[in-house]
Amino acid sequence: MNILLTGGCGYIGSHVAVVLMSAGHQVFIVDDLSNSRRDVVGNIAEIAGRSPAFYEGDVGDVAFVRDIFRRHQIEAVIHLAGFKSVGESVQWPLKYYQNNICGSLGLFQAMEAESVSKLVFSSSATIYGDPQYLPVDEAHPQHVTNAYGRSKLHIEDMLRDISASRPSLGVVCLRYFNPVGAHDSGLIGEYPRGIPNNLMPYVVQVASGKREVLSVFGGDYPTPDGTGVRDFIHVMDLAEGHLAALNFLSSNKGWHAFNLGTGRGFSVLEMIRAFEKESGRTVPFRMAARREGDVACSYADVQSAERALKWKATRVLEDMCSSAWLFQNRLSTKD
Ligand code: NAD
Ligand code: UD1
Repeated sequence: MNILLTGGCGYIGSHVAVVLMSAGHQVFIVDDLSNSRRDVVGNIAEIAGRSPAFYEGDVGDVAFVRDIFRRHQIEAVIHLAGFKSVGESVQWPLKYYQNNICGSLGLFQAMEAESVSKLVFSSSATIYGDPQYLPVDEAHPQHVTNAYGRSKLHIEDMLRDISASRPSLGVVCLRYFNPVGAHDSGLIGEYPRGIPNNLMPYVVQVASGKREVLSVFGGDYPTPDGTGVRDFIHVMDLAEGHLAALNFLSSNKGWHAFNLGTGRGFSVLEMIRAFEKESGRTVPFRMAARREGDVACSYADVQSAERALKWKATRVLEDMCSSAWLFQNRLSTKD
């Protein structure tokens, strides 16, 4: 199938590209490189044994995207392009609404104009807010506290309206929990810009000596060891979830949402220990105050995804840590 992959040079998108190409699909990446590097295309090609097509540009540019749809008879879209920093979205909400919402709007207009009728969208578990019960299932009440989360929720709602008006459309919103790790070649992975916000990239940089010490945000949560608990999912399992969603759309229409996680939570301290074991390095850390907006514990109910998508995360915490470390080491050798 010919698939348009937006944000395909990014962290998750590059892994999705590899999975789709390994399954025999033709991948056409659209990315404006606002948070990624062009050489990722070459790394995807090295893993997949052939190159994806690459178009540099804005996903919200209707004429540009329509032209790609027409030229390549695109049948499905996997839409990952967007900004993703919670803190930045609080500071610059308009930037997030412009890029995430207007960008998506342009893409959906182009899809409608060219009758492209399958879409997989990357949403986030952030739309559930502070969990009222665990594990968090897809029916959990939604509560967003920042512009990033609101942009995801708006896009999900927009898609619900569009699919209600167009019975031929099939839409899957995938609500990611905490993607970490890298492809086991070490050729693609996460390149955080500046100081990482998320736990795993920070741990990796402390282990490599790039940063001195990790601050553990909160040791007094009502969790077994007092630190935050999250559903970390290997980025390759997550990427395979997109292929499963695409297969689901071959026989299903309408609007659907699924959690992508493992269904298991690990604490910050458990993550640090696992990483130390896999890397053979020490990760110095100090306990710090809670980070504003953080929740104590979050993990997914994945039954719905497992049943409907016939997909299940299979990789364990050790795989997440060892692959992230391999990617960091490859990066250090290159730089
Ligand atoms: P990323 O920043 O690595 O990748 C996003 C890619 O989209 C980048 O390559 C960027 O250059 C591109 N992009 C941004 N705006 C664009 C535009 N208007 N037109 C074309 N390209 C554009 O982020 P990621 O971690 O790979 O996340 C991918 C998607 O998954 C995002 O939508 C993010 O919100 C969502 N998500 C990520 C996480 C996570 O933990 N990484 C969790 C939940 C949801
Ligand atoms: C964060 C975002 C969430 C987004 C997700 C993936 C916030 C409040 N939430 O989720 O919306 O979908 O990233 O991009 O920003 N931690 C430390 N030290 C650190 C970094 C993190 O102790 O230096 C802790 C956090 O307090 C948390 C856990 O590690 O308990 C995971 O944090 P993180 O990786 O940032 O993910 P989330 O907070 O779940």
